[in-house]
Amino acid sequence: MATQVIVLAAGQGTRMQSEMPKVLHAIGGLPMFAHALAASAVLSPARQVLVVGHGGEAVAEAAHKLDPDVIVVTQEDQLGTGHAVEQARAALADAGGDTLVLYGDTPFIEPETLERMADARATGADVVILGFEAAAPGRYGRLVMTGDRLDRIVEFKDADDTKRAITFCNSGVVLADTGTLFSLVAELGNDNAAGEYYLTDIVALANARGLRATAIACAEAETLGVNSRAELAAAEAVFQTRKRAEMLETGVTLTAPETVFFAHDTVIGRDAVIEPNVVFGPGVTVETGAVIRAFSHLEGAHVGRGAIVGPYARLRPGAELSNDARVGNFCEIKNATLGDGAKVNHLSYIGDASVGAASNIGAGTVTCNYDGVSKHRTTIGEGVFIGSDTMLVAPVTVGDHAMTASGSVITSDVPAEALALARARQEIKPGFAPRLIAKLRAAKAARQKGS
Ligand code: UD1
Ligand code: CA
Repeated sequence: MATQVIVLAAGQGTRMQSEMPKVLHAIGGLPMFAHALAASAVLSPARQVLVVGHGGEAVAEAAHKLDPDVIVVTQEDQLGTGHAVEQARAALADAGGDTLVLYGDTPFIEPETLERMADARATGADVVILGFEAAAPGRYGRLVMTGDRLDRIVEFKDADDTKRAITFCNSGVVLADTGTLFSLVAELGNDNAAGEYYLTDIVALANARGLRATAIACAEAETLGVNSRAELAAAEAVFQTRKRAEMLETGVTLTAPETVFFAHDTVIGRDAVIEPNVVFGPGVTVETGAVIRAFSHLEGAHVGRGAIVGPYARLRPGAELSNDARVGNFCEIKNATLGDGAKVNHLSYIGDASVGAASNIGAGTVTCNYDGVSKHRTTIGEGVFIGSDTMLVAPVTVGDHAMTASGSVITSDVPAEALALARARQEIKPGFAPRLIAKLRAAKAARQKGS
């Protein structure tokens, strides 16, 4: 039977000190709530429900941008985690299977941990709670166990000293049969220290019905929640550490791993080399054997096999580098394709363009793609030589094996194999330089005398 997922994300996150809902803050370039949704993918959920409240419209918009199938429900007043799950009833009541509850501000639950929870369900537990041994249990809910039976969860606010002494704590993740979960949630009350509908009370209710509840333990690091900017930064650091280790493990060379920053979806092939201080924004794929040299910034880009990028290169969304292409220092490539072996090596801007195989773009070349109102394309064929400091005023096409002279401003199409010269003709005035200098000096002396 299919599994359903509920992600609780209605909380305000006051301690973030932000105009933006907490769960929209990104880790590895992906909003926090989406990390929770991504972790649940291991259970192949049939339906995913996101419970929103504070800033709900913005969260819903972000969720639908990532996955139009996510069901968003609104919890108007935040009356507790049990009340939040209740909001998903209409979306899931007829869904059957199991339902997994996750928090939108807890991005590091490992897929493998969720699989272990599913195993516990398969071996007879009706309600499975994810717990962890807390180094500093603080305000977490405490798991009251008898052997491997979970008797109940006591919230910190409601716990006496003996219960507070328990160090096995509630992460918040729950897995149960969908029907059972909603029937238990229907029974929740709010007669407790916080006056909230605690989801955690379903454990005692389950036991009272003769159902079996248990807890699976995971590493505390997985349960790391984000409540402040400092915790957001710490979470980013955890994410980067994981990603660097993953890259090294899959055969990517990182000469200084601690200086390289990845996004949630960065894909890098074996034997690629990433030099120090490289930043990957979302949507980058680097193929086998490519080299990304120091201080480069890539986002929404594809780098083919054996290509070399940088140092100090910027690849923006839509940059497509075919095999063995070269993009050198202080070059920016945006929404442009470079064919096999094409070179853009020095100080160039190539935007809204295609550059054919083996073409060479001279230093300081600019595709003038924007006229102040609209963007236009530049099309460069194969084996073309673009002279240094060529301005290609788009829309414009340069045919295969054509050339442009240095310093040219190309405003009309260049046919294949032609040479385009578009600059003022040079004039030579013999002996003119010393005479010009003398004239300029005399003029300056006259000005100083007058003042
Ligand atoms: C909860 C658990 C506690 C556990 C801890 C782990 C309960 C009653 N307590 O406590 O046992 O140790 O998490 O971090 O469940 N949310 C809503 N709507 C609400 C309330 C909360 O969507 O009405 C969301 C929040 O946005 C957040 C999550 O649920 O993502 C947890 O809520 P929070 O208030 O942080 O719960 P805790 O009091 O920390
Ligand atoms: Ca919390």
